[in-house]
Amino acid sequence: MTLTARVFNDVADLPADFAVEHLPAMPHADGVLVCPPDDFDVIDVKNPYMAGQVGQVDRTLARRQWEALVTAFRDAGLRVERVPPTTACEDMVFTANQTFTGIDGAGKPLCLLSHMRHESRRREVPAFGEWFRARGWRIDDPTPATSLFEGGGDALWHPGRRAIWMGRGFRSSPGVDAVLAAAFEVPVFSLRLVDERFYHLDTCLSAIDEHTALIFPAAFDAQGLALLHRVFPRVVEVPEHEAERAMACNAAAFRGRYVVIERRAESTARKLQALGYRVLSVDTSEFMKSGGSVFCMKQVLFSA
Ligand code: ARG
Repeated sequence: MTLTARVFNDVADLPADFAVEHLPAMPHADGVLVCPPDDFDVIDVKNPYMAGQVGQVDRTLARRQWEALVTAFRDAGLRVERVPPTTACEDMVFTANQTFTGIDGAGKPLCLLSHMRHESRRREVPAFGEWFRARGWRIDDPTPATSLFEGGGDALWHPGRRAIWMGRGFRSSPGVDAVLAAAFEVPVFSLRLVDERFYHLDTCLSAIDEHTALIFPAAFDAQGLALLHRVFPRVVEVPEHEAERAMACNAAAFRGRYVVIERRAESTARKLQALGYRVLSVDTSEFMKSGGSVFCMKQVLFSA
């Protein structure tokens, strides 16, 4: 049976016979949107990774790492598009955050604008609205004015299926899960984030394919963990040092087959390889100083 377009917080809310295969199909992303790191820097502390890193970014190295990441996205078979950087937006390279993109209930591309937590990051959002609007996407901003929502940092599609995973607590407000369910007409599995080192959902969950998730368990409460285990038949747990120091759960998977991951996440990469995925390792050391890695540095594009 198909789930209704509402929020699911608990395994008990799911029908007893629930299986991912019952969810309607959703196309995989076929492109990514990136932003060159022209003004990338760490100038303040927005998350625990940034503590002690102010002024420590090697910007030449950052540029090289970013170019190599773009190559990895291409090697994974993706079309790579660029949004021009807005001057003095030091975090704009993290293009997962300013919007959330997908296909609406009528089969059309829809882009929701984020409500960033930090003032400096609110200046990044308009350029994304313009970029998507110019390419024919419907743009909407249904998040209440008093709520926070950090787009693809806290919301991600269940691979190949019409359902969304949402993380709330640090950068996105409770209640935004229901906004997403209504906007895209899909069920939303809502997870409370409980460890500030894993402040965005994409720092502790990577949905690899419709059956497989990479998680750092201690970032979730018991209810959330139970939901993850119920919906994903295969859950791969990442050890703490790789989740934190290599941002292993910030890996980005494409078309159910390719996984782009930070190269320090060695044991996780080996596990994924053993499971049959094509793993592409990249160095994101300079971006991890800002609390971001592979997944954060792209928005997903769908040509419906
Ligand atoms: N310095 C950025 C911030 O704190 C990093 C954002 C990382 N993005 C992500 N999707 N996890 O906002």
